[in-house]
Amino acid sequence: MDKIKITMIVNKQSVEAEIEPYARLLDVLRDDFGFTGVKEGCSIGECGACTVLMNGKKVNSCMVLAAQADGCEIVTIEGIEGPDGKLHPIQEAFVEAGAVQCGFCTPGMVISSYKLLSENQDPSEDDIKEAISGNLCRCTGYKQIVDAVKLAAEKMKK
Ligand code: FES
Ligand code: FES
Repeated sequence: MDKIKITMIVNKQSVEAEIEPYARLLDVLRDDFGFTGVKEGCSIGECGACTVLMNGKKVNSCMVLAAQADGCEIVTIEGIEGPDGKLHPIQEAFVEAGAVQCGFCTPGMVISSYKLLSENQDPSEDDIKEAISGNLCRCTGYKQIVDAVKLAAEKMKK
């Protein structure tokens, strides 16, 4: 099968690649563009480790063909730090609340939290649980993760 050329905006930078038509967005982000913060857990859309934003919508990048993302704007965990390389307040909150254990789920959790807090600056505990319901933590640190999102919401209000 012939390769196809795609272009997308990843973390505000224009990138292009020649890919197999069946390539997954997850693999292209990691292997072609080097955004290895996007993690692969289950590969079947269950764990949320591969969560990114595609045109502002949360997607599991293991379930999206890269060709579907042609022309789209993608945000990965690498894209939410401040321009000076400082941690985003959500990332700071995850560290301060002890919400990072092995860290494998963290990029997806942070992206889901980022999406929530961009739409709801004062989320209830139920809102937070709903927002991260597609993200599994194999270390089961859910309490600290919910605490971290609450703390992030406080930080982002200041
Ligand atoms: S690796 Fe994509 S949802 Fe688990
Ligand atoms: S911190 Fe280990 S999977 Fe969540």
